Amino acid sequence: QVRIFTFIFFGNYVLSLPAFLDEYKRHRKEKEAKVELFPIVAPEQPPQSLPDVYDPLAGIFGDAKKSKLMFDRQRAWQDSREGQIALGFRSKLPAFQLRSAFLESLSRCQVLVVTGGTGCGKTTQLPQYILESEIDGGCGSSCKIVCTQPRRISASSVALRVAEERGEVLGESVGYQVRFDSVRSRSTSLLFCTTGILLRRLMSDPVLNGVTHVIVDEIHERGLNEDFLLIVLRDVIQRRPDLKLILMSATVDAKLFEKYFLDLNTRCMDIPGFAYTVKSYYLEDVLNITGYKLSMQSRMWKYLRQAPEASDLRAHISEENIVREALNAEDYSNAGEESIDFTLIEKLLCHVCEHGQEGAVLVFMTGWEDISALRRQLRTHPVLGHPSRVWLLACHGTMSPDEQKRIFERPPSRVRKIILATNIAETSITVEDVVYVVDIGKAKEKSYDVATNTACLLPRWISKSSVRQRKGRAGRLKPGVCYHLYPESVFQAFEDHNEPEILRTALHNVCLRIKGLQLGDIQTFLAKAIEPPNRHAVHIAIEFLKVIGALDETEDLTVLGKHLAILPVEPQIGKMLIMGCIFQCLDPMLTIAAALSSRDPFILPVDKREDSNQAKFKFSIGEMSDHLAVVRAFNDWEVCMKHNTASEFCRANFLSMQVLIGMTSMRKQFLSLLQEAGYLDGGLASCEAYSSDPMIVRAVICAGLFPGVAAVVATPGSVTHKTMDGTVVHVHPHSVNARHEESCFPWLVFLEKIKTSNVFIRDSTGISDSMLLLFGGALVSIGQPGHLQMCGKCLEFFMGESEAELFQEMRDLLDELLKLK
Ligand code: CDP
Ligand code: MG
Repeated sequence: QVRIFTFIFFGNYVLSLPAFLDEYKRHRKEKEAKVELFPIVAPEQPPQSLPDVYDPLAGIFGDAKKSKLMFDRQRAWQDSREGQIALGFRSKLPAFQLRSAFLESLSRCQVLVVTGGTGCGKTTQLPQYILESEIDGGCGSSCKIVCTQPRRISASSVALRVAEERGEVLGESVGYQVRFDSVRSRSTSLLFCTTGILLRRLMSDPVLNGVTHVIVDEIHERGLNEDFLLIVLRDVIQRRPDLKLILMSATVDAKLFEKYFLDLNTRCMDIPGFAYTVKSYYLEDVLNITGYKLSMQSRMWKYLRQAPEASDLRAHISEENIVREALNAEDYSNAGEESIDFTLIEKLLCHVCEHGQEGAVLVFMTGWEDISALRRQLRTHPVLGHPSRVWLLACHGTMSPDEQKRIFERPPSRVRKIILATNIAETSITVEDVVYVVDIGKAKEKSYDVATNTACLLPRWISKSSVRQRKGRAGRLKPGVCYHLYPESVFQAFEDHNEPEILRTALHNVCLRIKGLQLGDIQTFLAKAIEPPNRHAVHIAIEFLKVIGALDETEDLTVLGKHLAILPVEPQIGKMLIMGCIFQCLDPMLTIAAALSSRDPFILPVDKREDSNQAKFKFSIGEMSDHLAVVRAFNDWEVCMKHNTASEFCRANFLSMQVLIGMTSMRKQFLSLLQEAGYLDGGLASCEAYSSDPMIVRAVICAGLFPGVAAVVATPGSVTHKTMDGTVVHVHPHSVNARHEESCFPWLVFLEKIKTSNVFIRDSTGISDSMLLLFGGALVSIGQPGHLQMCGKCLEFFMGESEAELFQEMRDLLDELLKLK
């Protein structure tokens, strides 16, 4: 009885704190109830390894009979007519010339660095060569080749392609695995997976038992996961002399990697590619060709050209900001769109369609938002919008398999294929028939400013090597043309290479992983990176993990930290999910976690911003929460799905059906993950037993998102928001909290600050003092007596002695609770 009483305590005290305090005082005084913690039904330690779904190689063992079977099948396919056709295509790829040299080199070294132009056959062919030769040698079922890809979409599309080339269905000898999705079986010998999946595998199996080959693809991109994986693998291969490591890169910056593995048995090889010449046109030429003048972009460039010689690109960028302000551009986060001149692109595409030779057009945009905005504009064009004359396709990280297929298809003659792509088409996806490339010179890249703890999501200038890559996409079948929508002088100022992600990202996730993988001291470990991050940045990340309760003072994982380290989500989101289990409000937390891990389900069309904002606002009347607005929208959408009215619902409410469907599967995965980890045992915290009390949901959101908190400072006529470090932040115009003139909550919690044209908090939720006080953790201190204030890096609540004591006690209880015993 006492236990249940205590639980109700925890379930409801957020709701009626004064009542609770009275209760609590009375019980303490009368000593009639010993306050006991509600037993949380999680295992004391997280499971050593996650269940099969998260374990890419579980249950795969070689045996001779299976190997013989694979051998026979491979032969039969190679002798068949279809197999001959596939082989015909494959043998035309540049990689084919070096097939035996590659296998020979591989047999003589442990680390092989392979470079080769995009499309020469690295990703689809090299892993396949290894597989084929192992099968030929009778070891088909005992070889385990793991090939990592930086993106989910390339892992699945490449696996499909390779299976096709082998005349198999996906999931036989070739499979793929990405977070939340996999097609593979016990006979899978070649597995394409995301880099994250392999890192996860290392957690339960630090030397990758059974794996014979690890191939790390696209290392030139210098993604955080890849750089991190290389530090780990550098150790693993020394403990596993029989394990082969193959690194594949598109550009010729192989020196850096060669040096990194210098003391090991390392070889390099380059696959010379073929490419036709591609002619470059810069902005001046494009303006001449299209006869287009008075655009904002050209005015901007004119201004830039008049500006004093600036050799440093950063100077250009700040100039651009000045210009943007001068032009009174809207103070909006999608600032990228402002600087892309859609009309210029439209005119150029029109020109190509009317005067160009046969061939597809590939347009590099910055991100999904401007791709869809441009697509909307082009669809209204008499020529470009005509489906019998133009195939207008999009290519980005979240496209559907059908869309993916269309990209590779050849249109009928006289139909022009135009692909609007993100930089995913730069190296990972190769479309053969591209003859024209339009390059706006920018990519939306997330970076992170350590000094201000702010994420930046500004379209940034790409590097010279990216420009070369983009341009090269036009010369696959015949000589091509590349239109750069910036002056040549600006190109000259571009950096040579992209900045490695490890140097421009928040590191808390990586630090948590290092601890989860038991790789020792964080600073020491990260100092072993190819280009180590700044020590201060690492320190900030460690401090952050301490604040959220994942690391203790000695930088060891706390119990909560151990649990967070096995959940494949950002630690804040993981904490929200765990707290959702404890406080029986998992259902909305699953939705919020899914929304925070995917694209915003609310669409924001450039020309209909106000309508879109209105629609979103409707979901949050009285709530002051973007997170709760998503929950409500999602729940309503699910009802509509049952009544087959979901499309209308989405259209009317500016919601993306695709994102919502994606969220549904993410929710399922989160749920099974929590189930497997033991949080939902005993039915006590099951998803159904969902507390519908928005106050509790709010408190749990606070628990997850803290220390992302801003004070709402209302003065007559204006409201400002200030974070704990004193930064003034702006509520994003698309947030429902931008519309509340009078706020009823003194605080807003948010996942991250994002700098675009201003420092914004995007999605936020209003919370009360007591929620912050109880769920805020170590940075919220309780003083006495009086009021509440924010000082330096912490919040101080001043209150009467007895209340302060009570709050302290309750927080201790909560801390105990988070030990998850
Ligand atoms: O990895 P790399 O850039 O060197 O080339 P790849 O991805 O292995 O692609 C080799 C060839 O296969 C390219 O010419 C692609 O056009 C073709 N390919 C395809 O037609 N469909 C796919 N899904 C993947 C590749
Ligand atoms: Mg590739």
